Amino acid sequence: MPPTPTHGYLSHATEHGFRRWKRLFREIVDMSNTESNAAGGSLEIKDSRTGSSYTVPILPPAAEGDTVIRAMDLRPIKVKPDEFGLMTYDPAFMNTASCKSAITFIDGDKGILRYRGYPIEQLAEKASFLEVAWLLRNGELPTQPQYDDWSHQITYHTYVHENVKTFLQGFRYDAHPMSMLCSTVAAMSSFYPNAKNIQDPAERHISIVRLLAKLPTLAAFCFRHVKGLPFIYPDNDLGYVENFLSMVARMTEPKYEGNPIFVKTLEVLFILHADHEQNCSTNAVRAVGSSHVDPFSAVAAGIAALYGPLHGGANEAVLHMIKEIGDKKNIPAFIEGVKGGKGQKLMGFGHRVYKSYDPRARIVKKLADEVFKVVGVDRDLEIALELERIALSDDYFVSRKLYPNVDFYTGLIYRSMAFPTDFFTVLFAVARTAGWLAQWEEMLSDKEQKIARPRQIYTGYGERKYDASLDHAAGHPRKKDAVRK
Ligand code: CMC
Repeated sequence: MPPTPTHGYLSHATEHGFRRWKRLFREIVDMSNTESNAAGGSLEIKDSRTGSSYTVPILPPAAEGDTVIRAMDLRPIKVKPDEFGLMTYDPAFMNTASCKSAITFIDGDKGILRYRGYPIEQLAEKASFLEVAWLLRNGELPTQPQYDDWSHQITYHTYVHENVKTFLQGFRYDAHPMSMLCSTVAAMSSFYPNAKNIQDPAERHISIVRLLAKLPTLAAFCFRHVKGLPFIYPDNDLGYVENFLSMVARMTEPKYEGNPIFVKTLEVLFILHADHEQNCSTNAVRAVGSSHVDPFSAVAAGIAALYGPLHGGANEAVLHMIKEIGDKKNIPAFIEGVKGGKGQKLMGFGHRVYKSYDPRARIVKKLADEVFKVVGVDRDLEIALELERIALSDDYFVSRKLYPNVDFYTGLIYRSMAFPTDFFTVLFAVARTAGWLAQWEEMLSDKEQKIARPRQIYTGYGERKYDASLDHAAGHPRKKDAVRK
């Protein structure tokens, strides 16, 4: 378990004669200095505006050595006693930990990813997705009876209310499946109103089971809707991944049998995508969940965040990019365009955290080899391999530590399994639901968490007087338009 941190304080010694403050803070500083030196050390800060000095404790190193100060420990740093106090400014959370978490560990420089301490390579090779979902949530691997019960519960909650079908049929034939999935998952909260009782462990549990069980069904229904095919109901005899493939692909056969290589590949991809600590969508789930909304709504927020091309949408964007390149001979010009900073990025490259090879990308590349042995190598793969080769030897990418990320090859694998491009991120969402839910529950049990509410640096006008000059009743409602002459 990570060590318990000491709490913050500060000394404030201005020349304005705040003797009581001074005395009080001195006492606390002395106390905390002893505490923080023993634990994590401290930071000496001198404010050049006031000449005051402050000692801010550095919290004891966490399990893997992360060191932090509490942003709130800076608040007492101020010039005048009635001002708000010093804040930190960190757009995009470049250097801010928003929570403590014991779920996933990443060392971006060394290319390490572990779930609950287990290396991703070992889990990908030997575990099942449902086992990993249990592990993420519970912190330990399941025993056999726990695993059997967990799999049974998830298998037997795969059906969705029949009205969901009607709801889905309201979408246009060409609706993006991520937008359908996002709204359908949000709509699920209206089918399970008790899910809002998030402080009740039994309600939390059943919501988690329902989300994990129904996500594949909803995802497959979105797929079938776009294709204009009848919805296929879950087959409870099949495992999690094979049942999903059955709902996606089954036609007239009485019993679906998935290609074992595809089933195994998807299982591994689900494991690789199951969690990735405080990424954009997980942060969205935590932030929305911190308002104590039900988990269906919080997960819908995660799906919305994942949809973006800088996040889960990147696997789709990689395929669009390869299509745009069209031929290996066009690659050098494309790379020059990326380096020229014209806004085009090499999709599937780069990562906020990994500054070396994404460990998931290594596994995915191996998987891709397996799949392409079955389906054959196509021109797109050749373009991808050549892009990777050039980028890994080009100083622009090397000096910025831009390596292929998990999304560089997943799109090619999904496409070779005949998934349409716009469905790739849906597959990511199904898998990431396991991580979102584990993180959501961890957030709820964390006594230090409150509603997520960042501060801002206001840059607008000072107070000014409002002069009413409009006639609100005039204009718009009586205007004619092309339809109503
Ligand atoms: N192609 C070309 N240049 C890049 C790329 C890229 N893919 N990624 C970053 N850079 C450049 C960027 O322009 C900047 O250059 P400079 O220092 O000259 O201004 C430098 O590298 C640092 O990049 P950054 O934008 O500060 O990095 P970030 O941590 O804010 O962004 C990222 C991370 C993943 C959003 C970004 O690398 C990117 O847009 N990659 C392409 C999209 C992608 O593949 N996303 C999937 C991420 S993995 C799965 C997931 O998280 O969902």
